[in-house]
Amino acid sequence: MSEKHDRGAPLRRRHPARRNGGDGEHTSKGVRYLVGQARDVKRGESVKFLMPVRGAEEECFVINFRGHLHAYVNRCRHVPMAMDWVDNQFFGEKGRYLMCQTHNAYYEPSNGECIAGPPETCGKMLYRVPLEIENGKIYARPPQEEFED
Ligand code: FES
Repeated sequence: MSEKHDRGAPLRRRHPARRNGGDGEHTSKGVRYLVGQARDVKRGESVKFLMPVRGAEEECFVINFRGHLHAYVNRCRHVPMAMDWVDNQFFGEKGRYLMCQTHNAYYEPSNGECIAGPPETCGKMLYRVPLEIENGKIYARPPQEEFED
């Protein structure tokens, strides 16, 4: 099977992320999942993780953009497939934007908006994963919004 064929497979997991949070922690606001230690996500870096979303394991990633942590579902809004053709490489353009390497969609790291790339994708938003930082640990909650694609 060629690399090109591999690349076109929707949501194919070439480098599966780890699941740290077990069954999750039930809180008054619903279930949340442990991602890891905040100090382990350095500026300009990303960490992938798995989290159940409406019954399916979804690969997600947390980034440190200019000292702030954000997380998204690893699903491009152009074609619903993982954005990191090279494992865990989400930042492009010297860390200024997130980039899907398949057709070069660029996303604003702080809010997940597609700002360049395939025209039909521009203006769409990555699915944000709500985060909580508590005692130096990162917790993630499944996004409430339905995936459109
Ligand atoms: S699949 Fe991401 S830009 Fe086409």
